[in-house]
This record gives sequence, structure tokens and C-alpha cells, in this order.
Amino acid sequence: MTGISTKLIHGDDSLNRVPDVVSPINVTTTFRYDSNPDNLAAVVDLPGGVYPDDQLVYSRLAHPNGLKLEEIFTEILGAPSVVYSSGLAAFYGLITHFNPKQVAIGPCYHGVKKIVDIHTRNFGLKQLSYSEEDLDKLQPGDLIHIETPVNPQGTSKDIRYFAEKAHAKGAILSVDSTFAPVPLQDPFKFGADVVMHSATKYFGGHSDLLAGVLAVKTQEIKTQLTVDRIYLGTNIANLEAFLLLRSLRSYDLRIKKQSDNVLKVVTFLNENKHKYKVLKEIYHSSLQQEPFVKEQLPNGYGPVFALTLDSKETAKYFPSRLKYFHHATSLGGLESLVEWRAMTDPYVEQTLIRVSIGGEDAQDLIDDLDQAFLSFEK
Ligand SMILES: Cc1ncc(COP(=O)(O)O)c(C=O)c1O
Repeated sequence: MTGISTKLIHGDDSLNRVPDVVSPINVTTTFRYDSNPDNLAAVVDLPGGVYPDDQLVYSRLAHPNGLKLEEIFTEILGAPSVVYSSGLAAFYGLITHFNPKQVAIGPCYHGVKKIVDIHTRNFGLKQLSYSEEDLDKLQPGDLIHIETPVNPQGTSKDIRYFAEKAHAKGAILSVDSTFAPVPLQDPFKFGADVVMHSATKYFGGHSDLLAGVLAVKTQEIKTQLTVDRIYLGTNIANLEAFLLLRSLRSYDLRIKKQSDNVLKVVTFLNENKHKYKVLKEIYHSSLQQEPFVKEQLPNGYGPVFALTLDSKETAKYFPSRLKYFHHATSLGGLESLVEWRAMTDPYVEQTLIRVSIGGEDAQDLIDDLDQAFLSFEK
């Protein structure tokens, strides 16, 4: 079987249109129709009313690098995949297509929660919690949405547990796997029906593009999502598709390094926690004891973790004491970031610092964090 690195580098070879080793940037929004009138058909006469992938018409429908991305994602995620203009656009596509009457949702990326709130406001979508009592209220066609590892703590939830709860009621389970993409975690193995990613993060990896992806169980659902995407206007943009394709070539190398780094950093902090008066808690999947965590993350932990500090004031100043961590939102890039999370997330404790580990040398990151903690004791 072909390995993930090979799939990332060659999964789209069958769609090469020119001899260039690096696929060109196609900035065109529109494509010439076939010059032979015998090959033209009215759109209503096409099967399903949609153009086949090899017939390019308009870039909101499809474009060469977007199609290449979908070939690769389908290979590495192990299921038919649809690419979007952002992670939130992917979630919007998901909720529009499945159109549940009830959604069980808990802690997750605040933007995902806001989309659910919009649907509650506009269409009366009912929101349930993850309590046993609420999960019992699920009906066929409803949705459980979980994020694991969860933003901003980087701790894991048991996918199998939620899959069983959903399926027992005829509902479906979507998993936002952004914080631990393949090969770290494969939610389908534990019963997920839809896997979502903000590809802006690790797949993009260079902090220079926005993208999202949904992987689904059947080709039929993929086709329906693709048709919805045309009219929602949420296809990935041409330039972003080029950038993401470039990024995927090195993704496997990056994620492994970032995952190795985070384990070294979190292990060090956990072992030396007593040294730092301002450090209260450390949150990360690697510190969880439940057996499902190792099973779900067999190839390494997600590179985000979180800390709580002794006060809101310390949390506000902490990022300015670091040399190698930029103080910025987001994650997944080669540059390590920290964020006083209260800057963007209305749902978190104001003492929380989210840390996104990049591709630097782990020892430099450890030394930097060490001196930043100790600087509060001077
Ligand atoms: C877990 C998670 N899901 C979804 C999103 C949204 O992705 P995007 O910013 O690409 O829309 C984010 C963004 O930070 C995220 O962290």
C-alpha cells in the first residue's frame, strides 16, 4: 500500500495538465467551452445537472488545483473529500447539507459554535449538550459534532463513545480533527461519519492560506456537497489552492516534527511545573490517562496545548516575555505561536494561554518558555 508521504507528493499526478513539476497557478475564473459544437450540451441535459470534473467551466464550480487537492485529500483521509475556502466554510457546507433539526455540541472552536447559533436564530435549530440525558433526545437525521483534540486545550474526547451514541439514535457524528490530522488521528476508524479540517492549520502549515476540507462516507454525499458548494460560493480560491498543494508536499515531514516537539515541550513543562510559581495547569492529550487517548492518537499527539497562569494580568504579559513564539492567533504553522486566548475566544478562562508548537528545535522552545516563566519571579 502506498504510504502517506507518497500520496501527498503523487496523489494528484493523474491530473497533471502540463509538464511542469510544480503545478502552475491558474488565476482564470472562466474556461473556454469546447470549440466543437457537437460536444456542447445544455446544462439541464447533463447527468444530475452538473458538469463532470474534467469539464472546467467557472472557477466557483471547480478549477485545476482544487481538483488536485481533492484527489490527495481523498487518498490521505481515506474517504471522498471536498475542499472549501476555509474551515468554517467546510462546517457551513456540512450543516447546510445534513440540515439536522437538533445538534449536540459542546466545547469547540468558537466560530463553529457561532454558525450553529446562526442556524438556531434563523431556522430554530435546537442545541443539545453532551449529557447522557440530552444525547437520549437525539432523533434520526440529527447531528453530534465533536472536536478532538479540542480547541484551545488540546485534550481528547472519546470518538467511539459519541459514534455509538449517535448511531443508536440514527443520528450522525461529525468530528473536527483539525488539531490532530492524519497520520496522528483517523476519526473514521472510531465511527465518525464526517471528518472536518481547517486546512488553514497543519495542512497549510505556512500561515499563509485559508482552506477547509470535509471527508464523507460516499461519493454520492461528496457530489451533493459539491453542488451545494457551487451555490454557497465556498470553493477554495485559485491562489489558495496552489499554496495548499505546495504545502501538502511537505505536510508529513512537518506534522511529525511538530508532534515530536510538542511531546518534548509538554513533558518538560509537566516535569518542571513545580519550578514556576505562575504556572497553574497544563492541558494536553499526552497528559490524559484514559486508555482511548493513546488508541486514538497512535502516531503522535497534536501540536497544540494550553496553560493556565496565576492571573489574567500574568496571562496578558506572558506572550511579551517570549522570544521564539509570536503572539498571534491560529496554529499549525512552522512558526510557534502563543495566544492569550481571551483576545479572540469569548468562551475561555482569561488566564489561559494557547500554545501552538512549530518546527523550531524543541530545546530552544523549552529554554524560551523556561526563561519566560522565571521572568515573573524577578
Ligand atoms: C478546530 C478548528 N476548527 C475550525 C476552525 C476554523 O477554520 P478557518 O479559520 O480555516 O475557517 C478553526 C480555526 O482556528 C479551528 O481551530
